[in-house]
Amino acid sequence: MRELLIRGGRPLSGEVRVQGAKNSVLPILAAAPLANGVVTLARCPRLRDVETSIQILRELGCSAAWDGDSLTVDTSTFRDCTIPDALMREMRSSVVFLGAILARCGRASCGMPGGCELGPRPIDLHLSGLRAMGADIRERGGILRCDGCRLCGESIVLPTPSVGATENLMLAACGGDGVTVIRNAAREPEIVDLAGFLNACGGDVRGAGSGTVSVAGRRDMHGCTYPVMPDRIVAATYLCAAASAGGEIFLRGAEARHLDAVLSVLRESGCQALHDADGLRFRAAARLKPVGPVRTAPYPGFPTDAQSVLMAALLRAEGTTVFEENLFENRYRHVPELRRMGADIRVFGRVAVVNGPASLHGAAVECTDLRGGAALCVAALAADGETRVGNLRHLERGYEDIARDLSALGGDANCTGEALWQTARAVGEAIETAGVGANAAPAAPRSGANPGPSGNAPGVPDGGADVHTPSGATCPGRCPR
Ligand code: UD1
Repeated sequence: MRELLIRGGRPLSGEVRVQGAKNSVLPILAAAPLANGVVTLARCPRLRDVETSIQILRELGCSAAWDGDSLTVDTSTFRDCTIPDALMREMRSSVVFLGAILARCGRASCGMPGGCELGPRPIDLHLSGLRAMGADIRERGGILRCDGCRLCGESIVLPTPSVGATENLMLAACGGDGVTVIRNAAREPEIVDLAGFLNACGGDVRGAGSGTVSVAGRRDMHGCTYPVMPDRIVAATYLCAAASAGGEIFLRGAEARHLDAVLSVLRESGCQALHDADGLRFRAAARLKPVGPVRTAPYPGFPTDAQSVLMAALLRAEGTTVFEENLFENRYRHVPELRRMGADIRVFGRVAVVNGPASLHGAAVECTDLRGGAALCVAALAADGETRVGNLRHLERGYEDIARDLSALGGDANCTGEALWQTARAVGEAIETAGVGANAAPAAPRSGANPGPSGNAPGVPDGGADVHTPSGATCPGRCPR
């Protein structure tokens, strides 16, 4: 069995370039069919989930090819509107393809995504938003079918600012008649990146990064070249790794403005961070202090995806820190594994109480989910002796090569063997014959898409976005309800 072997007790010292963001590239790949042309994504992370998205695109008739860390996708050959159930099960976030496929061809079919390792993951907000836009979606035997619909611009209020639902509705709205306005939209930087991509393809999306996003539909969209934003959760993982092991690191390309909530907690614990145009320099505290309660919340609150890695780092803090997980039910599955390494953590429902400093020791542990697995690596760097981390398929969904990166940062981390999905990918690349790369529009400037210091698009205040005025257009093709 493949394992990650980490020998702890060595302070970190080194530099790493932060990979492209998983949670940004996945919706961007789902959006690619809207472009009806050649899309080249720079800084595209090589991840299991990206490979699953590529498989979905191939099932839909598109072709894809890698060149270093650039991925080129040709969606002009798009011909199918069905996502196979097996691929839906492989990656829950593939539900975001639904909005794009509906926008591109007016019908779609895919498996109903089930729960996942984080607990129930409903998609009711995705479906009710699409239905409000005129989609006739039926579920039978675990398969979602949507036939013969023409989408219509609509005003939609999300009861909770769901990231995936905001993305799905943005993509569907690109194919709708008139203007769609999404209120209480998610404000995550990945939403801003998706809007930047859609606009680079000729779309008209405004207000991303604020609570109100508006999309003018039915524009002529085309291919483009687009750089994926750096992964703020991977950056947070390596900051927590340094906080845990001690030392000083530089994260090239990290965007400090996306990491405000994480950096503020790490500074409270005594660490120092300095950023410039090239990235983020971080120095760990010699002795970590416990911090006030860490409550996960939608952006710009503390990210649920960074809860586990921060918890692992704060095992070393001298005192008690309380965590409150407010997004997902099963987000403490790493706790029993951390306990095997000597952690003192008690869980009471959504609250976890961490008592430090723990005297951590190496152990054989298993990744229970993506970020839980990363937390084990963070703790292992501070543990006495060797930790063997198993069940690496979770980590491969979100980290290109965590052993490579931790080694570059001065840690002692090695992986045994190569991931099966990487071997499969090599075979897939060998048989990929498509000549993609023609017809791409010139590179679109990123500047207009980048969020400002608050995570918002430049000039976009919270809740006061520059959005469209709804056209009130009639929608002749709306499905009967
Ligand atoms: C995305 C991220 C994930 C991150 C999460 C929260 C991707 C690929 N994944 O997941 O890494 O942890 O945002 O920042 O980008 N909800 C409903 N009904 C719905 C949709 C969501 O009740 O239809 C609830 C969820 O159960 C959860 C909350 O809303 O409690 C937030 O979920 P959401 O923002 O949708 O997360 P994802 O998009 O699935």
